[in-house]
Amino acid sequence: MAVLSDLSEAHGMWVREDEAAACDLLARYRETRARTVALAGRLDPEDMVVQAMPDASPTKWHLAHVTWFFETFLLKPNWPDYPEFDPDYGYLFNSYYEALGDRHPRPQRGLLTRPVLEEVLAYRGHVDEYMTQLLQSVQAENLHGLVLLGLAHEEQHQELILMDVLNLFSRSRLKPAYDALWPMPQAGRRGHFRRLGGGKVEIGAQGGFCFDNELPRHPVWLQPYEISDRLVTNGEWLAFMEDGGYNRPLYWLSDGWALVQSERWQAPLYWENKEGVWHQMTLSGMQQVDLDAPVQHISYYEAAAFADWADARLPTESEWEFAASAGVLEQCDDVVWQWTQSAYSPYPGFKPQRSAVGEYNGKFMVGQMTLRGGAVITPLGHARPSYRNFFHPDKRWMFSGLRLARDVN
Ligand code: AVJ
Ligand code: FE
Repeated sequence: MAVLSDLSEAHGMWVREDEAAACDLLARYRETRARTVALAGRLDPEDMVVQAMPDASPTKWHLAHVTWFFETFLLKPNWPDYPEFDPDYGYLFNSYYEALGDRHPRPQRGLLTRPVLEEVLAYRGHVDEYMTQLLQSVQAENLHGLVLLGLAHEEQHQELILMDVLNLFSRSRLKPAYDALWPMPQAGRRGHFRRLGGGKVEIGAQGGFCFDNELPRHPVWLQPYEISDRLVTNGEWLAFMEDGGYNRPLYWLSDGWALVQSERWQAPLYWENKEGVWHQMTLSGMQQVDLDAPVQHISYYEAAAFADWADARLPTESEWEFAASAGVLEQCDDVVWQWTQSAYSPYPGFKPQRSAVGEYNGKFMVGQMTLRGGAVITPLGHARPSYRNFFHPDKRWMFSGLRLARDVN
């Protein structure tokens, strides 16, 4: 019970950073770490142990893994006699870093009843204590980039916690609300196509923190194109469904059509028809589908099929980034990530670091598609126009949607 009250106290610590704190790395560290615990604080310990599916992880595992990241990449290399919290935690909480050795199998993270939540929180406290001292030491200056990576990493896992909890709760007959007051996506007008001239444009991050996959910034040639200023809505998606979208192979990529058949997809993930009325599972529980709100929880295959049905296509990631920087897009980063037709590949000249941390993004650059923007569950200030999110084309438990693009003839 002590654990529960600690968590609910931490819940009140979710404060927006002020101007002064934004420049202060220690303040940013504390704020980010507290927000993760605050997000978990809405759950009960039982909710935090279960793994809903192999792609998802238990909240308790997320809480420990982000802590392991700071211990492994900041404390161990930079604190001469750093006392490791537990020598087995490297095995348990290493996600995918081959350079760091063997690890607990990903699909079995839900079997980790031990360490219990209280021990994981003690692990967080231990690492926070040493990180606080490290960030106050003279070394802090040189570690700036790595600390920012650790914080961006923890923010990615804050989003993953919410995705994974929604998936877990969707499988319960009770359809629990993570937060009864969780905001539903804003309804609004449908999109209009905006015309852009194309030509030679620059793509990639420019200044400030970014992941390695956003670099090098480089020139790209764009043909003139049109891109919708808003996201595809549930109402538009329903029209696709009612026009036989899920039953007519002509719109579908071959791999997508195979999945439609084997998985019997007939609607986005989390949609359920109750007596003729479409509902969807959300972080605020089961809700009626709002036809004027953006569609969410669709795979790349579904997005591509919809675009084909609509006599349009998905934008490339360069088209998306250029349009976003030109300020012509609404609903850029606060509703759902948006599928692009671009494969998640290295930019020209990309070279990941030859160390464990170089495994962060680069080794996933095959078989996945890039999504741009940001979602309602993405921490504030986490994403940027050059941000490259990526998932396999069949996944749909993330907050994914689409905006359309068209060629100009
Ligand atoms: C960019 C969301 C695909 O989930 O593996 C977390 C984020 N990277 N820890 C993922 C990430 C390292 C990543 N995605
Ligand atoms: Fe991670």
